[in-house]
Amino acid sequence: MKVIAIMGSPHKGKGFEIVQKIEVELSRLAEVEFSYIFLKDVNLKLCQGCFACIGKGEQLCPLKDDKNSIEAEILSADGVILSTPGYAMNVSALMKNFIDRFAHSLHRPKFFNQSLMLVANGGSGLSKVNSSLGMTLGGSNKVCELKITATPWDATEDYEQRVQKDIEKAAGRLYHSMQNKKLASPSLGNLIWFRIFKKMASLSEQNLPADYEYYRTKTDYFYPTRVNPIKNGVAGIIANIGVATMKKQVKFK
Ligand SMILES: Cc1cc2nc3c(=O)[nH]c(=O)nc-3n(C[C@H](O)[C@H](O)[C@H](O)COP(=O)(O)O)c2cc1C
Repeated sequence: MKVIAIMGSPHKGKGFEIVQKIEVELSRLAEVEFSYIFLKDVNLKLCQGCFACIGKGEQLCPLKDDKNSIEAEILSADGVILSTPGYAMNVSALMKNFIDRFAHSLHRPKFFNQSLMLVANGGSGLSKVNSSLGMTLGGSNKVCELKITATPWDATEDYEQRVQKDIEKAAGRLYHSMQNKKLASPSLGNLIWFRIFKKMASLSEQNLPADYEYYRTKTDYFYPTRVNPIKNGVAGIIANIGVATMKKQVKFK
């Protein structure tokens, strides 16, 4: 099993300590090839906002850096841990840039084989931090999230023990998800996501040619799976309302 941890802190601090503990727990459960990508050390340039990756395809990003090799590493992993400290109630700047550089995968999901664990550490606002982290690798299967209070000061022994238990539980969930690898059947939220993007893509051959091509061949969902007809109907109605609202605001072409 291969697990990759994407580290969003600008230093090897509390987040690193936490993820190292997760690594130890996972290694108790299975033979795991565990590696770290420290965003502070890789060459991942700041998104320039040209929209080429989203509109025309990620292969047309003008930035020449480590993005493609990072993506290949993620795609080859069974599990991905996204770790960030909470800074001003949000993800770190390094992690935000990582999120932006992978934003194309929210339009055209591709990380279907990756089980995802989110780890936010800080004092407050960690739910918001994890909700941002969850919108990073389109298609990945979020199996657990940790919100760990970690200030620059020491934690109490009681809290340390509680965190250890939470880490053990989360490591178990990640392990089981990687072991029983199967593509998740879509939730209502995922179906709505799919239907909105598919509909928008069908109206946007010129504006979003990459989306247009991606969704053209997809019928019920991103991948072949059983789709609950009731959920699908509800998703269709919600997607139609969403796209109708957008059509009043945006010229699709
Ligand atoms: C620039 C900056 C902003 C921060 N903002 C918050 C915050 O909004 N809320 C909070 O509780 N902690 C905040 N913290 C504290 C860190 O989230 C906390 O110490 C975290 O565990 C550090 O993780 P790290 O050592 O992995 O970088 C901030 C720290 C820094 C350096």
